[in-house]
Amino acid sequence: MKWQGNPFLTDYEDTMKITYADTSLAQSKADALIFFASEDFAFNAEMQKVADAFFPMLKDFLENEEFKGKSGQYIVVPVASGKKNRLIIFAGLGKGKNNKSIEFETYRRAIGSAVKTVQSKKLDTAAIQLPAAHFFDVTDQYLAEQTTIIIKMALYAFDEFFSEESSKVKKEIDFQLHADSSKKDAVERGIKRGEIIAHSVNRARHWIDLPPSNLHPVELTKKAHEIAHKYGLKFTEFSEPEIIQMGMGGLAGVGAGSHHDAKLAIIEYHCGKKDAPTLGFVGKGITFDSGGLSIKPAQSMETMKEDMSGAAAVIASIEALAQLKPDVNIIGITPLAENMPSGTATKPGDIVRFYNGKTAEVKNTDAEGRLILADALAYLVKHYKPDFIIDLATLTGACAYALGPFFSGMMSKHEKEAQKVREAGHRAGDEVWPLPFTDDYKKAIKSTAADICNIGSSKIKAGAITAGFFLSYFVDETPWVHLDIAGTAYDVPGISYYGPGATGVGVRLLVDLAENWNK
Ligand code: BES
Ligand code: ZN
Ligand code: ZN
Repeated sequence: MKWQGNPFLTDYEDTMKITYADTSLAQSKADALIFFASEDFAFNAEMQKVADAFFPMLKDFLENEEFKGKSGQYIVVPVASGKKNRLIIFAGLGKGKNNKSIEFETYRRAIGSAVKTVQSKKLDTAAIQLPAAHFFDVTDQYLAEQTTIIIKMALYAFDEFFSEESSKVKKEIDFQLHADSSKKDAVERGIKRGEIIAHSVNRARHWIDLPPSNLHPVELTKKAHEIAHKYGLKFTEFSEPEIIQMGMGGLAGVGAGSHHDAKLAIIEYHCGKKDAPTLGFVGKGITFDSGGLSIKPAQSMETMKEDMSGAAAVIASIEALAQLKPDVNIIGITPLAENMPSGTATKPGDIVRFYNGKTAEVKNTDAEGRLILADALAYLVKHYKPDFIIDLATLTGACAYALGPFFSGMMSKHEKEAQKVREAGHRAGDEVWPLPFTDDYKKAIKSTAADICNIGSSKIKAGAITAGFFLSYFVDETPWVHLDIAGTAYDVPGISYYGPGATGVGVRLLVDLAENWNK
């Protein structure tokens, strides 16, 4: 018998609690009291009440510290109150530029910082005074929803493998969102929605963070199946023999070197409305990318358990959407394989034939993502004829180099749909940036032995774009947007509400996109 990874551990579970409160922070018993201030703010009545209750010199203190509410300004005021010390936290939001409202992302990061403080101090409770929604030109519901999402995302940590309790971070924390009683319903609705979305983001992160020997294609298929069962969604899976038999040479070829069988998992959400559009969500699911026989250098391989981040985002977003119930149909399709070198692995020089009959020369077995996505896209187009396709893939190091960790690369020839994706990403906090996508780049993937080649020519370079063009051979005329999330899926620095490891990029974007598709 061979060791097959640690026994699969528990699923991601939420342990924090978020509730609405209509009282003043001055009456709160919470361990931390959190205020947000825009630039040049006025010390308001609510702050004064807290000052009267806990720290009469609070206004002077902030002035002495030159706290002006600038973006990124952050002050923690510890106060003794009875037998307990409390923290009063002030986070700056800055001001809107060019007569516009304040960028919402500034608020997300301010919340993230405050939550991390509460977590690192191991506090049990925190009270947040929700800032005015008009600062950001958003609704009270959206503000509460996003606050909830960021609290949960900031508390997430992949720490279940630490054997010492002291190495784990605190997640059982009660947060109260304080707002005027006229906002009660909107805030409570927002909290509910936020909990659903954040749960899915964190679930995706947990799958990505799990060691690759724990989460292989069969295991992730099981997770998708469980979700489908729980929400009554249609679910289909194809085994490796079926994948081979159906002529999916890309997916079969990439899985050929691995001890773990490849899978194709399809999860469907149907809204039940006549004439509703059908959206195809496609996610790259390489549960570990060693590079195959074109093996990666050790350092590039260190984080390659992240190579199923696209698939995780697709499955997790559909879990959320099954509860939020937008008026669209969604077909989530995830090709899953482990890319390993072995005596049975695909070799450089091999030619694979895909589900739609097209062929590709495999010059580099490390350019495997496009090979598995090709079969999934072809299957989706043939059997579902979707109105729109979006795929998410940790596809190229080139994209990570071009854009760094703050924007996913977006490639599309369909401007209207690309604009929708860009807006959804911006609203949701998963930013994307367009790369040029003209046919000049298409020549890069010519092959002398097959229809196309799986690596681009060294003269044209632009590896992210040429990889995108490879995929274009499998979508026919369907409006389609490709997102390369290689730079944004894992270990993103400088954003307060992320930590080490997976970001769950794409989940928030897909949820927003589906919910706003018909608008
Ligand atoms: N999974 C990698 C891309 C990647 C790199 C994801 C860094 C996340 C972080 C992909 O399969 C790959 O290896 N691509 C090659 C393509 C090349 C051989 C044409 C790359 O980017 O080097
Ligand atoms: Zn690779
Ligand atoms: Zn890969």
